[in-house]
Amino acid sequence: MFDLGYSEEQLLIQKTAREFAKEHLAPGVMERDRKMEFPAEQVKMLGEMGFMGMTVPEEWGGSGADTVSYALAIEEISREDASMGVILSVNNSLVCYILNAFGTDSQKEKYLKTLASGQWLGAFSLSEPQAGSDASNLKTVAEKKDDHYLLKGTKNWVTSGINSDVAIVFAMTEKGAGHKGISAFIVEKSFDGFTAGKKEDKLGIRGSDTSELYFDNCPVPVVNRIGEESGGFTIAMKALDGGRIGVAAQAVGIARAALEESVRYAKERQQFGKTIASFGAIKEKIAKMSTDISAARLLTHKAAYLKDTGKPFSTESAMAKWFASKTAMESATECVQIFGGYGYMEEYGVERLMRDAKITEIYEGTSEIQQLVIARTALEK
Ligand code: CAA
Repeated sequence: MFDLGYSEEQLLIQKTAREFAKEHLAPGVMERDRKMEFPAEQVKMLGEMGFMGMTVPEEWGGSGADTVSYALAIEEISREDASMGVILSVNNSLVCYILNAFGTDSQKEKYLKTLASGQWLGAFSLSEPQAGSDASNLKTVAEKKDDHYLLKGTKNWVTSGINSDVAIVFAMTEKGAGHKGISAFIVEKSFDGFTAGKKEDKLGIRGSDTSELYFDNCPVPVVNRIGEESGGFTIAMKALDGGRIGVAAQAVGIARAALEESVRYAKERQQFGKTIASFGAIKEKIAKMSTDISAARLLTHKAAYLKDTGKPFSTESAMAKWFASKTAMESATECVQIFGGYGYMEEYGVERLMRDAKITEIYEGTSEIQQLVIARTALEK
């Protein structure tokens, strides 16, 4: 059922992403990290190349590719620049996915076409100061007034919060109803009362901006509600199922960077009159990293394949994200260890992998939330 051979189209997408990443992302990645600089030019180029709405049908401005191709592309991009990995992942698997799956034709015409073709950038805004893992505990409200809703509240940790043109925002339309009272809205940055907070200073993925979003009686037309009133939580959960495939692929890319850098360095570095690659302790690390990365990629592509073939995939995407993010963190840590003192220095570029890897264990559901989802399925059987 799970064909391990990749199609010519999938391999072409992988090659195109790899070449782009080497040519346009690798140079300057450390400088962007240091300065917390958003890769605006590269985002524009990726949009023109069809990478911003990869799985969106061509009629709505996308590339009509499958989720396996998408995972291959995110891995290649994140191999060089995990910040770009998350910018792409959020726009593709959260924002464009929601509009494509739940939007009306007029929402698709107005928003999906511009987002999938890369003319606009999108953000996904669910979390709040008191609502991280407990995602339905929202305080942001949307009160209906005639032909619009008034949004009031504060959102947290929003990827591309500053550089995006539009955000999909989740808010309570029925106070006190928990997850049954949440609705989803398309909110343009230009709407009155909508502002982004300061750019957060982060440990890793520093090229991607993260900020709070504030809504001060922000009027949102009723036609910008996505799906039914109070149907928003299911939309968020379904989007995160797919989003976790993107984060898993990003983590595989970071882990692969750690492995490739470790191999290169271990074959060069001489200690005690031999290359360190000849020592068992280093071989063991390389063997573990290689095996874990292969397993993480398989889990990721299995979840992507299930999504592509219309089968349930929430548990598999949780498994992929949990395992791949753990692999990224462990591989990056081992890479720094192999580099020793040099690895700890910014100049060698591998400490960034360790900093970038950490967030993959946190965003779009922490590892603990992934375990909860996986265990729930196992225990229901
Ligand atoms: N697909 C469809 N529906 C789902 C679902 C899924 N995967 N998971 C849950 N639901 C539905 C349930 O069926 C239920 O619906 P009904 O009442 O109609 O039966 C409803 O949602 C509530 O489900 P639960 O009772 O399971 O909800 P819960 O409160 O126990 O929470 C959770 C479940 C898995 C812990 C969920 O809250 C969760 O995933 N939390 C993590 C949130 C998260 O990932 N946040 C990341 C935000 S985005 C981000 O990281 C920033 C960024 O920019 C990248």
